[in-house]
Amino acid sequence: MKRAGFLLAAAAFAFWTAALLGQARPRVSRPRPPRQVGPRPALPSQAVTFNKQIARILQASCQKCHHEGDIAPFPLMTYQDAFDHRFAMADQTGRRLMPPWHVDSSCGGFEDDPSLSGEDIRAIGEWVASGAPEGDPRDLPPPLTFTPGWSLGPPDQVLAMEESFTPSFTQGDVYRCFVMPTGLTADRFVAAVEVAPGGRAMVHHVLLFVDSADTAERLDRADPGPGYTCFGGPGFTPTSALGGWAPGNRPRLLPEGVGMHLPKDSRVVMQVHYSARSGVLEPDRTLIGLHFSKAPVQKRLLAVPVLNYNFLIPAGAKDHEVRASIPYIPFDAHALAVTPHMHLLGKRMNLTATLPDGRQVCLVNVPDWDFHWQGTYFYRSQVPLPVGTRVDLSAWYDNSSENPQNPSRPPRNVTWGEATTDEMCLAFLSFTLDAENLTGAAGLAATGLATFSPFWEEGWLPGPSGDSRPLPGSPRPR
Ligand code: HEC
Repeated sequence: MKRAGFLLAAAAFAFWTAALLGQARPRVSRPRPPRQVGPRPALPSQAVTFNKQIARILQASCQKCHHEGDIAPFPLMTYQDAFDHRFAMADQTGRRLMPPWHVDSSCGGFEDDPSLSGEDIRAIGEWVASGAPEGDPRDLPPPLTFTPGWSLGPPDQVLAMEESFTPSFTQGDVYRCFVMPTGLTADRFVAAVEVAPGGRAMVHHVLLFVDSADTAERLDRADPGPGYTCFGGPGFTPTSALGGWAPGNRPRLLPEGVGMHLPKDSRVVMQVHYSARSGVLEPDRTLIGLHFSKAPVQKRLLAVPVLNYNFLIPAGAKDHEVRASIPYIPFDAHALAVTPHMHLLGKRMNLTATLPDGRQVCLVNVPDWDFHWQGTYFYRSQVPLPVGTRVDLSAWYDNSSENPQNPSRPPRNVTWGEATTDEMCLAFLSFTLDAENLTGAAGLAATGLATFSPFWEEGWLPGPSGDSRPLPGSPRPR
């Protein structure tokens, strides 16, 4: 049982990091609508114009993806760009499909929430309805520029694949792990990781694991060519994870005083998923930029899964609920981020904390799950989770043939698993422990929490009922 718990935790670990990828969406090319340049109507003085309002909305909420070379299928940088796509813009913003944001803004309160105000949406609608006027050139704000390269500035350390790798797609997609020694002679804390994919068109995603033993190197030696084949996870139990990358993902610095622990002499193992569908074949040499924490780090970023791996979604079920919970959080903690995860049958998910005083806190609500836009959502203010807090997750799945995403035709009974045709019911809470103080005299060895990684604590995993066993009042040091 213990072993099974570990393996499941390892599986979940892989998905945590997968989910850490942020917002992944394959690039879709669409035919451009025909250019329409007709006579423009005369402007009433209060009219919404591109130069005055629309350009500002595009800069604030759209251009980070809608510029040349990024993930959106067309740029929205100039008047002509916006004019060409004006009807789709009004439609997509009116239905709140763009900018993409897949959690309920009224729950949690997250950083980077790009949701447009009602006023902005009305302005776009009015602009289109009035013939999409360009307006007075003097109203135009200075253009935003996007410099390719490291978006957080030059990293403190760059790790690279030893040599470039060209995947062979004869058997479909390729999952390959590359071992990158850090050469660090002292433990470090990482505040952010930025991934610079080499073969950008074929690199579907990148996951980063930490190995402080030489397991990954052994796997590498046993497999000819650069790196080794690995699917799902890295093929060993990682010491920790450093997140990852997928198109659209932007690195984010952890708050001051919080860091991801990178032990000295460790290796970063990078799993790259090369997508055969891209139709591109080129050598890839992906780089990893590590940004070390500048200020002293008091707390490690830890993560705990709220998960249920004992479920069965019957074939044909249209709205099947699966629950998971942590009935008792055994220490004072603060939640920093949440990462919901399901596969293709997922419809909705919500996660609620019930504090010891009975108050309920909405941790995340996903009203319309989209597998292609996974994200880690950082709370604008960290959520206190005092000892005795209970966390409950509910997830709903559509395993009917009416679900266009259903990978099985006809539908079959679905249980927990790593394959696309399996499902998961899981959310990760990233948190810090209130009692942890690494800058105290004894540093990492200061408390019984030194080697404590709740992630690996079996007691956090749910039992057969989908409900975790209550833990004793204090964490077990290992
Ligand atoms: C996080 C990246 C991102 C942001 C921000 C973003 N878009 Fe998009 N947009 C995309 C991607 C990717 C697509 C391609 C369709 C898809 O994958 O959903 C897209 C597609 C579109 C489309 C075409 C949709 C269709 O199905 O025809 C329109 C119109 C659009 N975006 C407008 C906007 C506007 C307007 C904004 C800002 C208010 C915006 N987008 C912000 C990434 C983004």
